[in-house]
Amino acid sequence: MQAMTVAIRTAALVALTLGAGACGSKEAPPAPECPPPAPAEAAADEAKPAGGAHLPPDYDAIPEGPLGDSIRRGALIFTDTPKHAGDYVGDSHSCVNCHLDAGRRADAGPLWAAWGMYPDYREKDHKMNTMEDRLRGCFTYSMNAQGSAKGEPPPYGDPILVDLQAYMRWLATGAPAATEMSGRGYPAPPKPEGGASKEDGAKVYAEKCALCHGENGEGKTLADGHVQFPPLWGANAYNWGAGMHRNNTAAGFIKANMPLSQGGTLSDKEAWDVAVFINSHERPKDPRQVGTVAEADAEFHAHDCSYGEGVGAGTPEGDAKGHG
Ligand code: HEC
Ligand code: HEC
Repeated sequence: MQAMTVAIRTAALVALTLGAGACGSKEAPPAPECPPPAPAEAAADEAKPAGGAHLPPDYDAIPEGPLGDSIRRGALIFTDTPKHAGDYVGDSHSCVNCHLDAGRRADAGPLWAAWGMYPDYREKDHKMNTMEDRLRGCFTYSMNAQGSAKGEPPPYGDPILVDLQAYMRWLATGAPAATEMSGRGYPAPPKPEGGASKEDGAKVYAEKCALCHGENGEGKTLADGHVQFPPLWGANAYNWGAGMHRNNTAAGFIKANMPLSQGGTLSDKEAWDVAVFINSHERPKDPRQVGTVAEADAEFHAHDCSYGEGVGAGTPEGDAKGHG
């Protein structure tokens, strides 16, 4: 089983390497003979800075000494969060589940594109967020810290937050600071005319996703506790406040990155439909909810999501559970 994980991850890496092509890849630096981008690509790139996505350094290039040690610890926390920061993880996720290739891949929330963009104002909590705030937010929502042993995200100044930032800084080596970079976050496929269809999404899910993520979105955890395929809903998934519960965000992530190693193969409509299907299921409660679901819906969910539409109360296990 371990071998299968490795095989799948290797396949993803191979696909990535091939996908990078000769233009802008490490083996062949950008050459003048690179063909001009196709018209659709050119249009999409208009709003982005020239130069393509950033290429972070190779893992082998991490320096020796205290800085290098911190970077390496940060990489471990990012890729196996339950093992290296388990006291603050209340679901079955690692950061890398949504920030692919250890936070290196463009269009999959790359860390190098985030590094130079904080502090920044966020509508989510109506305040200026430092990088520490941002990282604590990931623990609070995507990692469902309320269900963890500590019941909250790592405190300000915690070595976990320092090491994660050292890793980010290193991935951003050579990247421009305070600049909106190409490949940041997730792409935004247009919503299908007439809206997305949960029913059509259920079919996409059964055909193209259930194989790995399970018929009930439960994912797959091996006997040794290693999460082979992360859950998409239920008690062990990201909670109702996580960025991924927004249909547009999930559609963008899925379109660019899923099925694993076959990113870009779904149509925009398929990506939206399956995003709506996944996010119409129950998951741990929104930690911002202090009153009723209707109140939290009105205050925090004025975006494209299913919160409050018969879901949002949270899974009982997800609220109380500590991580094993
Ligand atoms: C379930 C998926 C998921 C997991 C797990 C996850 N994230 Fe994220 N992360 C997202 C999404 C989606 C966004 C995009 C912003 C939003 O809407 O919240 C994001 C945004 C970020 C950003 C800001 C990116 C930018 O360009 O501004 C950082 C930094 C980040 N995550 C770090 C982490 C770290 C560190 C962890 C682990 C402790 C983690 N994330 C776990 C989904 C996830
Ligand atoms: C071959 C197995 C495989 C298939 C098929 C697959 N996934 Fe994934 N998926 C993964 C793995 C593995 C990850 C975590 C990636 C990592 O950690 O590097 C993931 C991550 C995700 C995530 C973010 C993490 C989370 O748990 O929320 C979403 C959302 C997702 N997949 C949706 C889908 C959808 C929708 C489909 C079908 C269109 C799909 N996946 C098909 C293996 C797969």
